[in-house]
Amino acid sequence: MDFEKIVNPIVKDIPPSGIRKFFDLANQMEGVISLGVGEPDFATPWTIREAAIYSIEKGKTFYTANQGLLELRKEICKYQKRRFDLDYKPEQCIVTVGGSEGIDLAFRTIINPGDEVILLQPSYVAYTPGVALAGGVVRNIILTEENEFKLTPELLKEAINEKTKAILLNYPSNPTGGFMTKEDYEKLVPIFKESGIMIITDEIYAELSYEHKFCSIASFDEIKDQVILVSGFSKAYAMTGWRLGYVLANEYLVKMMKKIHQYVIMSAPTCAQYGAIEAMRHCDEEIEKMRQAYLARRNFLVKTFNEMGLKTFTPQGAFYVFPCIKSTGLTSEQFCEELLNDQLVACVPGSAFGEAGEGYIRVSYAYSLEELKAATQKIRKFLEKKGVK
Ligand SMILES: Cc1ncc(COP(=O)(O)O)c(C=O)c1O
Repeated sequence: MDFEKIVNPIVKDIPPSGIRKFFDLANQMEGVISLGVGEPDFATPWTIREAAIYSIEKGKTFYTANQGLLELRKEICKYQKRRFDLDYKPEQCIVTVGGSEGIDLAFRTIINPGDEVILLQPSYVAYTPGVALAGGVVRNIILTEENEFKLTPELLKEAINEKTKAILLNYPSNPTGGFMTKEDYEKLVPIFKESGIMIITDEIYAELSYEHKFCSIASFDEIKDQVILVSGFSKAYAMTGWRLGYVLANEYLVKMMKKIHQYVIMSAPTCAQYGAIEAMRHCDEEIEKMRQAYLARRNFLVKTFNEMGLKTFTPQGAFYVFPCIKSTGLTSEQFCEELLNDQLVACVPGSAFGEAGEGYIRVSYAYSLEELKAATQKIRKFLEKKGVK
């Protein structure tokens, strides 16, 4: 069989993940300290686990409604109102298999072949392939450290043209930790309004905001109907393995997304949905404790990397730092490979997040302070050998 001919060329052309490639290397070695994974090191709060176990004990082991349990959708709407002052009705909510499915649903529901989707680079690795798989074309906006990785009105205006269908925003950002305040967004709202483009906002790290109060682009009434808000439980609630997220949007759009979801997925995992109801009702304190722990780790890493001579922007959210390694004269892949071979520490090359990430590495602080201290001591040794201050 000539499988090369059988496979859809769009799928064939998707490059392997730059993160995976690197971690396959790291996995073959013993004693590696990895700072690579974007996954909380905390176990899910016990009360959430207990609620899910109880649902199974009670025999709640069937599919739920396609759109998700009404009780959960009501809780999500209450939570978004309470935490972020957003008004949504349960009919405007669909429960998905992680934020990942939410992003895919958004792309597949609105992209026509050839439509352009604006992505902000460096960006989370799943967006570019997601747009391609939906038949869209990516137009990149390059964000820079000088602008604190923010989207500016100038950059936005320049990128929009008659083919633009949507833009994807991800603040707080993976991988940079960039953040948009209410004032930052206020400058963009008239441009969004005038252009009429759709805004997919991936707010998976909303709760992990440090200096400023989180502001959703959906909080601007004049463009709210243009917004597809994607969020979930993986990061703030330490629930990556539960595979649960949600989308909030205009009711008609949710109906359309539901068509894809009901035929491809049926419904999100039932016990995870019961756990999530508990998460929304009773876990504000637990997630605040985790946020505080991430903040302490962030402060440690930013200070340590800057002291070592790797200029590091202070991320305002999520759990990654993005040190600049240009002073070493190495490419980000060379840096990570040499660091791994020399000191058994694994970080992710910035280039895995698009060309705009070249010259940087991504270091996750979803690891204990002890691990971060051990790893940074090794990175210091590596830099000393390289002659960096
Ligand atoms: C920016 C961003 N969006 C979405 C996801 C996917 O999250 P989920 O586990 O909810 O599918 C991730 C996971 O790393 C992420 O970093």
